[in-house]
Amino acid sequence: MQRRSIRNRLIFNSLALALLPLAAFAAYIFWYVYSVNPDDFSHLFFILSVAFIVTALLAIILSINLAENFTAPLETITTAARRIAAGRLYERVHVRTGNEIDILALALNNLASRLEDKLEEISAEKQKLQLILEHMDNAVMLFDSHGCLLEANRSAFSWFNLSSAMLGQHNLNALGSSQVDSALRDALQSDRLQQRTLRINFQGTKKIFQASLVGLPTKTGISKNVLAVFHDITSLTLLQERQADFVANASHELSTPLTAIRGFAETLVDGAADNVADSRHFAAIILSEAERMQRLVQELLQLAKIESVEYRQQIVTVPVHVQPVVAAVLKELSPAWHGKNLSLLVEQPSEAILVQASPDWFKQILVNLVDNAIKYTPDEGRILIAVVTQKDQLQFTVRDSGIGIPAEDLPRIFDRFYRIDKARSRAVSGTGLGLAIVKYILDALGGTIEVMSSPDSGTTFTFTLPAAQNQIAE
Ligand SMILES: Nc1ncnc2c1ncn2[C@@H]1O[C@H](COP(=O)(O)OP(=O)(O)O)[C@@H](O)[C@H]1O
Ligand SMILES: [Mg+2]
Repeated sequence: MQRRSIRNRLIFNSLALALLPLAAFAAYIFWYVYSVNPDDFSHLFFILSVAFIVTALLAIILSINLAENFTAPLETITTAARRIAAGRLYERVHVRTGNEIDILALALNNLASRLEDKLEEISAEKQKLQLILEHMDNAVMLFDSHGCLLEANRSAFSWFNLSSAMLGQHNLNALGSSQVDSALRDALQSDRLQQRTLRINFQGTKKIFQASLVGLPTKTGISKNVLAVFHDITSLTLLQERQADFVANASHELSTPLTAIRGFAETLVDGAADNVADSRHFAAIILSEAERMQRLVQELLQLAKIESVEYRQQIVTVPVHVQPVVAAVLKELSPAWHGKNLSLLVEQPSEAILVQASPDWFKQILVNLVDNAIKYTPDEGRILIAVVTQKDQLQFTVRDSGIGIPAEDLPRIFDRFYRIDKARSRAVSGTGLGLAIVKYILDALGGTIEVMSSPDSGTTFTFTLPAAQNQIAE
């Protein structure tokens, strides 16, 4: 349309320029000849008409040609500009007119190529941001002013079990947490960053998040969106709680024997020492309580050592002969099991077997498990220690016919300080740390442990450790 009008105007103007003076000149000639010699008029009229028509035809051809030459490159430029505007930034104009239109084409090409570069830059930047957002260890979500979920990154999808169908839904449908909903409302009402610790019960598991929420004005500026970043601090918080528990438990466990020692020492100071029998009795109690404290401190130190990451990294495992260690453990504990008249059976291969472990820690596992079996089995009971070789590992079993462990306590017996019946355990000088130490050692040595028990039929602990490499090769 545009091109037509420019072209038509060009044709019209050049025609007017060429023909108007000619028409004026012809009119003057007619008038002149007619006034001087009217007889020659018809002859002249013919000649002038022919001249006029030829000139007009020439003028039309020339002006059309001129208009075409001028508007064709413009049309090429317009088409290219339209395509560029539609997003085809790679489009370039190729015209060669030798006039200002070339400059226009060059400017358009320049503009398109710069635009292309800028867009590429922006899209690379966007991609980078997207990548960071997708791979960051935080859940990032965008909500609209009604609390509907607009966008979420990969962590958010997996932590909150989202599906793409949930985008656009209200946060209460998508996340199902009233705490998140109220934090979102607060963020919408305030101009400041909101920091919250949210404890969310999510599909049966408790999760603790440090959430930062901020209201962002939308493009229109009328409403606000809320950007929420969730940082999972569940394990950190549980660790802190566990540490606080541990300190409380350890202090409590230490203060019990200390109170007894102090009480009996005071009684002695107050005059009980005058009576020899009493003083012996009290001194014996003080000794046994002091021994208990010593054991507790030793176990706490052992636990602290095996729990420390640096120490675990330093542990060197070597091939350890199993049979001599089993024999040493039985010898060490023999007063205890002989005293209770227990029958103790050991089943192990006759040929030498080697476990890949740290000798001291391997012995400690066996001592703790056999010590428990002895402590929690009534007199005349039976204990079995069995070792079997399985592919690249060794399986050890310590079974007793003792009092057993109720099913509800089984998941917790490896916790620090956990004792099923504190009074009963104290009577057999338990601290509740033995199994925790066993579990930590096995974790550090690449082993596993399982327990099967019922209060009627006794308890079976089964643990595995890697077999020594040279033994596998044989
Ligand atoms: N062989 C077993 N038979 C019955 N109960 C056991 C046995 N081994 C462990 N337990 C229970 O598990 C608890 C934790 O064991 P442990 O950590 O070794 O502590 P403790 O110092 O009391 O022996 C014990 O207090 C006891 O109640
Ligand atoms: Mg024990």
